[in-house]
Amino acid sequence: LPTNAPMWFKDAAPVGPDDPMPHELIDKLTQHGQRISAVLEAVLAAQASTGAPQRLLDAMAYATLGGGKRLRPFLLVETAALFGRRDDGVLLAGAALECIHSYSLVHDDLPALDNDALRRGRETTHIAFDEETAILVGDALQTLAFELLTDERVHPDAAIRLKLVSGLARAAGASGMVGGQMLDLCAEGRRGATPPPPSERSIKSMQSMKTGALLRYACIAGADLAECSDRDRAALARFGEIIGLAFQLADDILDRTADTATLGKGVRKDAAAGKATLVDFMGLDAAKLHLNHQIKEAHSLLAEYGSAADTLKQTASFIANRTS
Ligand code: IPE
Ligand code: IPE
Ligand code: MG
Ligand code: MG
Ligand code: MG
Repeated sequence: LPTNAPMWFKDAAPVGPDDPMPHELIDKLTQHGQRISAVLEAVLAAQASTGAPQRLLDAMAYATLGGGKRLRPFLLVETAALFGRRDDGVLLAGAALECIHSYSLVHDDLPALDNDALRRGRETTHIAFDEETAILVGDALQTLAFELLTDERVHPDAAIRLKLVSGLARAAGASGMVGGQMLDLCAEGRRGATPPPPSERSIKSMQSMKTGALLRYACIAGADLAECSDRDRAALARFGEIIGLAFQLADDILDRTADTATLGKGVRKDAAAGKATLVDFMGLDAAKLHLNHQIKEAHSLLAEYGSAADTLKQTASFIANRTS
């Protein structure tokens, strides 16, 4: 492992002989994570001169800079690279997406939602600060994401920036991440709601919104940043869709099988909360098998790009094999 490998790679190990986690991917993810952190740090430092209150900025820094795999920006950057674009503007778009993701975690952990005290191996934002601040951190990170996407360095063509902004609004909003979070809570039967009996279809549809939408967007945004063909964009959108579902399935498996020290967040929470998950619905073994199928399908969607898509294929495997 690289000596500067972050906490979440500490216990990373190949799961099976067929699908080892290549060290070069770990290196790339590590370096990429550091670059995203540097961009976020600079962006937050710049906010200080705009009159933003220090306490809010401190809490925003806490929520965005303390670890995290930076997987969504990595997918965005690697998709753009597949189609020939690799520069700092792409990284800025990745940082914007990471702001939305970090906000979603801060709000997801709030007492009113999942009520979690641990995230990325340390206290959640509402514990380290307070609930009111955590709510405002989410609000501020969300608007910051859109501000970043309007930066000319993201793409010189305003029409493309507009496409990125509207795409992110869709992916993050009522028909995407936030809508999925609502369905996730409804499935718990909160506030007297009678949830429909869970089915594979309803669980996947909820998960493709709450988690899949941002991962799918990562791939689509990368494709748009590089102005690839409609056909390539559609292939990457489909890849993003599959790995989005796989990502939440892996998350649900880890909730059942991992330990807190490795995962960096609470475990055995989903069943206790009555969450609708595929692990619950189909059982752990079938869920693991299903995850394998999804990763194989993701790989096959990129087959036509040959070795140029190796990093993206390895990232798909990482989603299934990760330990945190
Ligand atoms: C966790 O996402 C939330 C889900 C969508 C399941 P990640 O596992 O990508 O979280 P970080 O950013 O690495 O902490
Ligand atoms: C969260 O799903 C998805 C989000 C939109 C944040 P989970 O509630 O399963 O994520 P964790 O397990 O808390 O990271
Ligand atoms: Mg949740
Ligand atoms: Mg949660
Ligand atoms: Mg979870």
